[in-house]
Amino acid sequence: MLITPEDVQKIILAYKRYSTYQFDDYSEKSFTRRVEKILIDYKLDIPSYINRLRSDKEFLEQSMKDITVNTTELFRDPKIWHTLKFRVLPRYSEQDSINIWHAGCSTGQEVYSLMILLNEMDLLEKANIYASDINEDVLEVARSGEYKYRFNLDYLENYNQVIKKNPYNFDEFKDVPFEKYFDVDKSKDRMKAKSFLRQKPLFRKQNLVAQNNVFYTKFDLILCRNVLIYFNYELQNKTIDFFHSLLFNKGSLVLGVHESMLGPIASKYIKKGIYYIKK
Ligand SMILES: C[S@@+](CC[C@H](N)C(=O)[O-])C[C@H]1O[C@@H](n2cnc3c(N)ncnc32)[C@H](O)[C@@H]1O
Repeated sequence: MLITPEDVQKIILAYKRYSTYQFDDYSEKSFTRRVEKILIDYKLDIPSYINRLRSDKEFLEQSMKDITVNTTELFRDPKIWHTLKFRVLPRYSEQDSINIWHAGCSTGQEVYSLMILLNEMDLLEKANIYASDINEDVLEVARSGEYKYRFNLDYLENYNQVIKKNPYNFDEFKDVPFEKYFDVDKSKDRMKAKSFLRQKPLFRKQNLVAQNNVFYTKFDLILCRNVLIYFNYELQNKTIDFFHSLLFNKGSLVLGVHESMLGPIASKYIKKGIYYIKK
């Protein structure tokens, strides 16, 4: 089903009118694709979509979740994890505490990846881990730390690359079994993060568009990966500026591998390859 830019505006306006969700500044292409899929899945046309948003709170919440993309994985893009391991985290290793925020954490694999890495670097104990997302359902999964096993076999390869191997020294190999961090039940096709990992992070619902700091603290490191690609240029800049205000001096910001800072906002940060330091 193809919809016009005017239809898209009507839907955006309806979300604004009937909820606190503002999609004005989402990337138009991705938003349009998602709305088209909702129209098909729920067998709606534009007027009935708007009517449902007005009268059906459950539909409103569910459709918001359908619009936001939740794809994630353990140690997604291993290159970033090598940078975190060898460049970013060592910057804070001498501090008494390290505050870390995962903004747009989805089902939590990124959060568990970082905690595993911190543990291997003997930094987990002094780390405070905060994680947020707009979608309460994905946060529920994140809190449970439970994932399908077979479906996620790629995770093992990513884990090996980041935790066991050293890309700067191929002779080095650290044999850390995956089971140190996850209970794996192959018969039930299930893996679950160990409780010492699950009990550590504070997960909270937060809408980055609203720009409220739900953790009431500042951060040494903010990871916001593969979220800004769904925002338009203005909202990307606004969000990067929001992160700037919440970073300690010399704090680091890590974006997704396909995301970068453009325009005047970039002058507030020092670009260090694939991560940024607050000036
Ligand atoms: C593709 S996932 C990225 C997950 C993880 N950071 C990664 O890179 O693997 C994007 C996440 O951003 C969340 N998101 C989208 N819009 C948001 C907003 N306005 N505020 C907070 N989170 C948002 C979605 O719910 C989704 O879970």
